[in-house]
Amino acid sequence: MSRSSRVLVTGGAGYVGSHVARLLVESGYDVTVVDLLRDHGGTGNRWAVPKAARFFQGNCGDPVLLRSLLPHGESFDAILHFAAFILVDESVREPLKYFENNVVNSLRLFSFARETGVPSVIFSSTAATYGQATSDLLTEESPQKPINPYGVSKLMTEQMLRDVFSTGDTRFVALRYFNPAGAHSSLEIGQSRPEALHLVNVAAEAAVGARKKVSIFGTDYPTQDGTCLRDYIHIEDLSDAHLEAIRYLEKGGASDFFNVGYGRPYSVNDVIATMKEVSGVDFEVNTAARRAGDPAKLAADPSKIRRVLGWIPKHDSLKEICRSHYLWEKKRREERI
Ligand SMILES: NC(=O)c1ccc[n+]([C@@H]2O[C@H](COP(=O)([O-])OP(=O)(O)OC[C@H]3O[C@@H](n4cnc5c(N)ncnc54)[C@H](O)[C@@H]3O)[C@@H](O)[C@H]2O)c1
Repeated sequence: MSRSSRVLVTGGAGYVGSHVARLLVESGYDVTVVDLLRDHGGTGNRWAVPKAARFFQGNCGDPVLLRSLLPHGESFDAILHFAAFILVDESVREPLKYFENNVVNSLRLFSFARETGVPSVIFSSTAATYGQATSDLLTEESPQKPINPYGVSKLMTEQMLRDVFSTGDTRFVALRYFNPAGAHSSLEIGQSRPEALHLVNVAAEAAVGARKKVSIFGTDYPTQDGTCLRDYIHIEDLSDAHLEAIRYLEKGGASDFFNVGYGRPYSVNDVIATMKEVSGVDFEVNTAARRAGDPAKLAADPSKIRRVLGWIPKHDSLKEICRSHYLWEKKRREERI
């Protein structure tokens, strides 16, 4: 019997990485996770890593650690690279921290991939690389003009992928996530960062009584209800996109970039109303001025990922996203996870 494919998951103790690591284990992959963890300068939680995965606490840009993960002369079949810092506001205040972690550590990881001949690399990119939307639905060819150091660091890493792997045997897929939300259906893992300021998370926190109110930043945008529109995507559909990406590369697919969203944006008001409906809690909402740099609408044209990777979303429902995020938030507060 041939051995299972060996995959390295960086940042596999974080929100997205832990969901994908779990799906990979369930799909028969031999998973190794490297993560800094919360107490060592990262944001991940050891308990979020699947039990069947090997785990190493450390930096994904540490060549000594990376080389120690497998016996000399052996290599990974794929690397899925989630590890990064992701707070936009913090990136504005501390850009060097973002370039050091998101760009320099990615460079070291890609160098390891090249030197050890890893055939497939999957990279977590973001809609933040587009900056302000220039069209109704963003395609992969839409201009990329990030408006904060976080987005710049991700675009620089995309560029490195292109150049570093333009020769050699490694092919890559970069997935540009839109707005991931929701939790795993088991309710064993979900968003667990205290500083997570995404709207669905903030609304779920208000619904469970962990925050007093939700603020709507701007009600005068040129949208149907005046609030911003975003393309929320269920974390389990996002996880599936990674599985499709790895299979695509295993079958010899060419290096490429894909949006991951539904192409069906919802407004801030829609999210608040849906969270109130699924939780049955009428939490307080106030309106505030627009925040600098918030585009009126950000939504993906998902036709490429559907066509090329064969990705078929199964949870394209704002209600389902809000319900699973709320149930997880409730559980983690009750059980002090
Ligand atoms: N969550 C989102 O809204 C979103 C949207 C678009 C793109 N992304 C991308 O998805 C990826 C995962 O995001 P997330 O929401 O799961 O964030 P997260 O903070 O929950 O997870 C990131 C994980 O990476 C770890 N990490 C950071 N730097 C590391 C390093 N140098 N070495 C090892 N581990 C390190 C952290 O400890 C954490 O566990 C990131 O690359 C992010 O840019 C996230």
